Amino acid sequence: MKSSPIFQCQACGYQASGWLGRCPNCGEWDSFKEKKEKSEKINLDLPEPKTLSQIDFQEEPRFSSGFLEFDRVLGGGVVKGSVVLVGGEPGIGKSTLLLQVASNLAKKNKKVFYVSGEESPPQVAMRAKRLSSFLPEVYLLCETDARIALETINDNQPEVVIIDSIQSFYFPEISSLPGSPNQLRETASKIVEIAKKQGITFFLIGQVTKEGQLAGPKIIEHLVDTVLYFESSISDLHRVIRAVKNRFGSTDEVGIFEMGASGLQEVKNPTSHFISQSLERKGVAIAPVMEGSRPFLLEFQALTNRTYFPNPRRLSLGVDLNRLLLILAILEKYASLRLFEYDVYLSTAGGLRLSDPAADLAVLVSVFSSLQDITLPEGIVFLGEVGLGGDLRPAPFINLRLKEAAKLGFKSVIMPKYDKIEAAKSLKMIFKKNIKEVLEFLSKNG
Ligand code: TYD
Ligand code: MG
Repeated sequence: MKSSPIFQCQACGYQASGWLGRCPNCGEWDSFKEKKEKSEKINLDLPEPKTLSQIDFQEEPRFSSGFLEFDRVLGGGVVKGSVVLVGGEPGIGKSTLLLQVASNLAKKNKKVFYVSGEESPPQVAMRAKRLSSFLPEVYLLCETDARIALETINDNQPEVVIIDSIQSFYFPEISSLPGSPNQLRETASKIVEIAKKQGITFFLIGQVTKEGQLAGPKIIEHLVDTVLYFESSISDLHRVIRAVKNRFGSTDEVGIFEMGASGLQEVKNPTSHFISQSLERKGVAIAPVMEGSRPFLLEFQALTNRTYFPNPRRLSLGVDLNRLLLILAILEKYASLRLFEYDVYLSTAGGLRLSDPAADLAVLVSVFSSLQDITLPEGIVFLGEVGLGGDLRPAPFINLRLKEAAKLGFKSVIMPKYDKIEAAKSLKMIFKKNIKEVLEFLSKNG
């Protein structure tokens, strides 16, 4: 007797005796297929299991993107045949960055394809012209039909392809709109296939949208090798690129760029951007801070004026206002300062936004110095989180921070005691337990 056919949902595995348009279990449309009878046992060619040590491999070949800041985030250069997703909000500079990378690579005689689904050829060319004084030998393809784009790539065999943006491509045979999850997954998985088979490197730009019908790049993160995010977290002018996933390197590297009139410029030495060269040592304190795994020195400037208001004003640029209020409360309590009679203004150099608590002590010292009119010792940095009890707490990445301060010629650091430090010889470490000790030291040595 022939058994009646069984239909199964391809999405969740739910079975029914007849075909259904929509799965009652998972809600997927058009997912039912007839389930085939279990086939006879066939002879499979079974592989011989190998241990890891028996496997031959070579370090993946890499090449430079022309930006050291970008190479570092990628784990030491671009890996041949890898697929890198670069996400970020609209207008942050993704197209600019990758067009610059494309032109860097073309200058080194790599065959680069820039596939734009968002801009017209004149628009892209105009931007490229703005970024460098001449138009680079980058091949441009303006297309949104994924089949045509991928077939053209197949035909021309470039070494590097930039897809701007992954959300603008679509396969006509998939009924959903460009940018929908289905389209996005299909485009990304086809691209990954081509990259792996043919050793072509792909950079996929992904628009991060807060809301709306575009699916975010998150849903293809598992398909690609490397996921980078481009953001303006530290200041309006600066761009930070960080890895959130990397099959070929660590994820704690960050690259810093500055947006200028002719595109993005690398910030190889962030410290020089965030320390002013002023010799004024009143109301100005410096802290070795971290952005991701990148240490640099940041200057805090405080100004205190006798207030004319019933409620004194507190203004903070770069540091969270609540953090400042907390530090002022601690200063008021443990140093017995009459801060309620003063307006307090605080700002970071270069307009940098910072959330590293290890800078607490520098913020506190800058306010103290301005209020008491104390000149701070020369070449000193301050490091430590300040607790509500006025105690100093250690911060992570201590060795990186101290090395950066020593490298830049600072002579001493005031900080809480640590168990293990690889001391930098040129940097004198002055250990203090709490802010009382710090302020006493400054009053004596100022
Ligand atoms: P863009 O790369 O188009 O951003 P995305 O692709 O992430 O949406 O960059 C957008 C902004 O960058 C734009 O508002 C103008 C600015 N910009 C500059 O400041 N300088 C430049 O040289 C370029 C090309 C852009
Ligand atoms: Mg763009």
